[in-house]
Amino acid sequence: SICHLDGRYLPLREARVSPMDRGFLFGDGAYEVIPVYSRRPFRLEEHLARLARTLAALRLPDPHGAAGWAEIVREIVARNAWEDQSVYLQVTRGADDKRSHAFPVPIRPTVFLMSEELVTPPAAQLETGVAAVGAADFRWLRCDLKTVALLANCLLRQQAVDHGCAETVLFRDGFLTEGSASNIFIVRDGVVLAPPKSHLMLPGITYDVVLELAERHGQPHQVREILEDEVRSADEIWMTSSTKEVLAITTLDGRPVGSGRPGPVGRQMYAWYQDFKN
Ligand code: PDD
Repeated sequence: SICHLDGRYLPLREARVSPMDRGFLFGDGAYEVIPVYSRRPFRLEEHLARLARTLAALRLPDPHGAAGWAEIVREIVARNAWEDQSVYLQVTRGADDKRSHAFPVPIRPTVFLMSEELVTPPAAQLETGVAAVGAADFRWLRCDLKTVALLANCLLRQQAVDHGCAETVLFRDGFLTEGSASNIFIVRDGVVLAPPKSHLMLPGITYDVVLELAERHGQPHQVREILEDEVRSADEIWMTSSTKEVLAITTLDGRPVGSGRPGPVGRQMYAWYQDFKN
């Protein structure tokens, strides 16, 4: 596949960055994952707005701005073969000639984009839903920033894999936060519940779409803090992300969620989402 590295387009296998890059040494960088359907980036503006917000919070100078990023994303999509793609975009604080925690002067960000085929959950998985485990959320207190420092997320996701599961549902101080790489919704008594945006979770682009679709279609929904016990006794649990879209979690720590099958509200939301993305 073709990637973008600091202004150049080249085959991914030929791309090289310095081991002194602060992305490598410190996990010092921001990223986005943008879904592309039929060669059209979905919710691009929103992804670029979140990128700008992360960059500002990390005090990382934005090397391109929204129009510049949009052009590079368009180019990456055009240069790769698939109709549906998942574009990965990363900006790190670049390389220095010594390892020093404080920022280099001047900062020269490293810009990297690549694309993969977007493979959304297959029909069989939509039919059964996926299994998840619960875990204590031990991440830092700026989970609202989309940074490449994902060690905690990787450890937490691996806990799911170790149990033959697809996702880890995270709880902090008795409340639902999100998944290791997704946002989490629940349904109780026909009402869609979502945790409120805060420093404890990523403001998902898919999360926003789901709430917009609920609003548009008159689906009862509420954004409020959700107790761990409410998750464990929910009628439905869903995970949402740019690559998983809306996917039912049908067992949590080995116990069935509701009927143990994807529920009617989640099926309806999935259908609205499919309709909306096209
Ligand atoms: N992950 N929460 C976390 C911790 C995430 O990593 C993600 C996405 C989401 C969902 O956000 P969105 O709807 O904007 O994709 C929530 C991406 C897909 C990843 O790291 O691959």
